[in-house]
Amino acid sequence: MIKGKHIVLGITGGIAAYKSAILLRLLIKSGAEVQVVMTPAAKEFITPVTLSPLSGKPVVSDFFAANTGEWHSHVDLGLWADLMVIAPCTASTLGKMANGIADNMLVTTYLSAKEHVMVAPAMDLDMYASPSTQRNLATLAADGVEIIEAAEGELASHLVGKGRMAEPEEILKRVEAFFARKEDMKGMKVALTVGPTYEKIDPVRFIGNYSSGKMGFAIAEECAARGAEVVAVSGPVNAYPENPSIRIIKVESALEMEAAAKEEFKKADVGIFTAAVADYRPEVCADQKIKREATDEMTIRLVKNPDIALNVSKEKEKGQTFVGFALETQDGEANAQKKLEKKNLDMVVLNSLADKGAGFRTDTNKVTIITRDRNVAFPLKSKREVAADIVDMIMTHRAAADGVADEKNTAK
Ligand code: C5P
Repeated sequence: MIKGKHIVLGITGGIAAYKSAILLRLLIKSGAEVQVVMTPAAKEFITPVTLSPLSGKPVVSDFFAANTGEWHSHVDLGLWADLMVIAPCTASTLGKMANGIADNMLVTTYLSAKEHVMVAPAMDLDMYASPSTQRNLATLAADGVEIIEAAEGELASHLVGKGRMAEPEEILKRVEAFFARKEDMKGMKVALTVGPTYEKIDPVRFIGNYSSGKMGFAIAEECAARGAEVVAVSGPVNAYPENPSIRIIKVESALEMEAAAKEEFKKADVGIFTAAVADYRPEVCADQKIKREATDEMTIRLVKNPDIALNVSKEKEKGQTFVGFALETQDGEANAQKKLEKKNLDMVVLNSLADKGAGFRTDTNKVTIITRDRNVAFPLKSKREVAADIVDMIMTHRAAADGVADEKNTAK
């Protein structure tokens, strides 16, 4: 998986920098091409002389080579990298990355990186736990950076707690998992419904809801990053995914969303209904803006919108996997199980509204994923990490379904 991949290994100024040499060796032994980028402080802990023979490339640390004036292009490095791993990552570099403070070669390379970035923080336990470090980690996670959490143990200060950099072998496993995962959706088509729907009252007013589309687009990004061809039928939202390969079909109302979803989901291997569809729409939309002066009271008659997931899933064919979302305030798991059956879905992602940081307009979410044979509860994570969990579950489910189909064929 790693063979021939281009990895930028960023090293910052922490005691754990000595472990970077071991990580570098492991990556090189796995067949990767590795370019080391160090912050000036990192050179106080480990010298480029140790690292460049291991990587077989000169270490980059400054914007210019002092003796020749040659410019080291962070842009080129950012384009070259299939993955950037920053290990160890100090509190200072985390803060710079989270806020775009590009005052060294490592942070500029991070800002130029087109592909995935992982950080393995390492610092004293109190620095790790401090609100500012945790805030920066949350910002980076929301930006799509993969955080390899620090481990518990004895720290350089001889204090014991959370702050040790993950071991090089552990980091290598995450790198392997990234490249393995990256291609597991190649050749697959994924369709999603995303965001809210707006139901028109008159030319300037509508009934809508607070859905931001963030969860749906995080899943779209995850699938596209893993090689799938992705189309999202999206209601009105403020932010769209960054990956230009994701095709977006913009719709406004539930009826428009249903028409587009019917077309797109029938071509998809995986269909995911993340949209918060308005349950009702005004029976009629006034031709002209309704005047306030006209009456003291007004009544808008609402009629039921179609259940898009239910209607589209009626046409589900063998080999297709359809996933719905559920937001329940009571008996969540039981209701999600019922939804699975009623809507002919393979999986329901249950959002918990009771938990802080979960649900609409947040960058984090806490979900339980329900299939016919198991319920898996996940802790609070960034929406991108939740997206990866959902996609992992979908892929496991599909592999198991394929296995069952194979067994049946063999039995025949
Ligand atoms: O029935 P309930 O609204 O709880 O179901 C939620 C799931 O069904 C979500 O996946 C949502 O996207 C989908 N849904 C839909 N069309 C509706 C209502 C819900 O596709 N009209």
